[in-house]
Amino acid sequence: MTDAATTAGAGPKDALLAAEDVKMHFPLRGGLLRTVKGHVLAVDGVTLRLRRGETLAVVGESGCGKSTLARVLLRLLEPTGGKVFFMGNDLTTQKLRVVREERKHLQMVFQDPMSSLDPRMTVKNIVAEPLVVHQEPEDRPLGIALLALLTFFHGLCAVSAGLGLFLWAALSEYLVTVPSGLEGIAALFLLGYGLLEVAGSTGLWQLHTWAWWLLLVQYAGALALWFFLGDLILVGASAVLLVYLLAVRKQFASGQDTTNRVLELLELVGLKKEHLNRFPHEFSGGQRQRINIARALALNPDVIILDEPTSALDVSVQAQILNLLTNLQKKLGLTYLFITHDLSVVYHIADRVAVMYAGKIVELGRTEEIFAQPLHPYTKALISAAPVADPSVKVERIVLEGEVPSPIRPPPGCRFHPRCWLAFDACSKTEPRLFDAGGGRLVACFATARDLGMEEIGGPEISAKQKDRRG
Ligand SMILES: Nc1ncnc2c1ncn2[C@@H]1O[C@H](COP(=O)(O)OP(=O)(O)O)[C@@H](O)[C@H]1O
Ligand code: SF4
Ligand SMILES: [Mg+2]
Repeated sequence: MTDAATTAGAGPKDALLAAEDVKMHFPLRGGLLRTVKGHVLAVDGVTLRLRRGETLAVVGESGCGKSTLARVLLRLLEPTGGKVFFMGNDLTTQKLRVVREERKHLQMVFQDPMSSLDPRMTVKNIVAEPLVVHQEPEDRPLGIALLALLTFFHGLCAVSAGLGLFLWAALSEYLVTVPSGLEGIAALFLLGYGLLEVAGSTGLWQLHTWAWWLLLVQYAGALALWFFLGDLILVGASAVLLVYLLAVRKQFASGQDTTNRVLELLELVGLKKEHLNRFPHEFSGGQRQRINIARALALNPDVIILDEPTSALDVSVQAQILNLLTNLQKKLGLTYLFITHDLSVVYHIADRVAVMYAGKIVELGRTEEIFAQPLHPYTKALISAAPVADPSVKVERIVLEGEVPSPIRPPPGCRFHPRCWLAFDACSKTEPRLFDAGGGRLVACFATARDLGMEEIGGPEISAKQKDRRG
């Protein structure tokens, strides 16, 4: 790939998100010893720059490596080669702990809204999950942390006492053969009480509001019990904890904050307060994708990678979700990497389009230019199948023959040559590199280079004409 991929003029560290010659080759194992028999070249040398505030669409047939590229960009997959930069930091060399921190600003929305939502979680918990996971330890007030530890040990003591009593009752029954139901009941009570307290303390540690209510009821119950039993020391201890719990009520604002933030996010994506405690199966496909978008927005990200976010939806719902994404982008200043197999979807949403074929980018440019004048034969075929730019313009339909190439053994030279009607000798021998066709347009095609007078064939260096064009 030539440095023409950097037409933005800036290096990868200057882009918001950048892929630099990224490769993802999955090993293919077989035989008894599961030895590596070959590789799936899912992504094979992709260079991209995502600029702040733009929508860059990555378009290509199913299986051309779009989702794999997205996963590598998020470092959900370790790339075989190349680098990924996010806000100037090389994500490929960072520790996973640091990458997880970076992912606060880099979120993803997946294609199938249902399978990316846990069916056992309510909308509130789904949307709040990133907030809870990324909660900093210093967000937890010291008083609450101390109370959580105290409650945890208190619960642990009650569980141990319950178990001890249970064992003692069982043993004494066995040895002395005196039935003693009272110890059994007391042991069960202590066990239940202790376990509830342990659960409450972990909830307290994570600042869940339910933990506050659980402990409030528990300490109030304990206070009443010790009062009737006449145990002054325990009455005093429970009363102190109860008063303390009421005193730190305000510090539980972060639990309340989470709920408020979830409500705010639901409103942003067009859902309502009454949806808060419902489960994913109670929603339509479009609403589920709205929940996914709300979750992706929870941590105020800079970039959202949208992997075919509307492919599983009806056409009318697709339009609603695309409108929502456009409005959110304007409102929140988001940057999108929009992955799709459907070129007609990108026309209204993308500023630039990168066309991918068999693990490589074959053309990249501004959306209106790509639609008005596609340069690569593969892009021409895609556009001819989705003439959305101007319905009055008659576009000759190009029907691609042949199969999508195997990512295990891609054709030599230009990967598109077995299906290309313009192919000539050099195409099956040498791999075309992306060249700069001017105005930020990159194309990897010998015929296009020849037609534009760029003599790109086989040359390792950018031709003099290209250099002139770029100034
Ligand atoms: N974990 C994996 N192991 C082996 N091959 C994979 C794996 N993930 C994806 N692939 C292969 O990589 C190629 C690209 O897949 P993918 O990125 O999902 O394509 P797209 O999203 O464009 O449809 C496909 O041939 C797919 O079978
Ligand atoms: S390089 Fe050759 S085979 Fe590839 S798209 Fe261009 S003309 Fe077709
Ligand atoms: Mg995919």
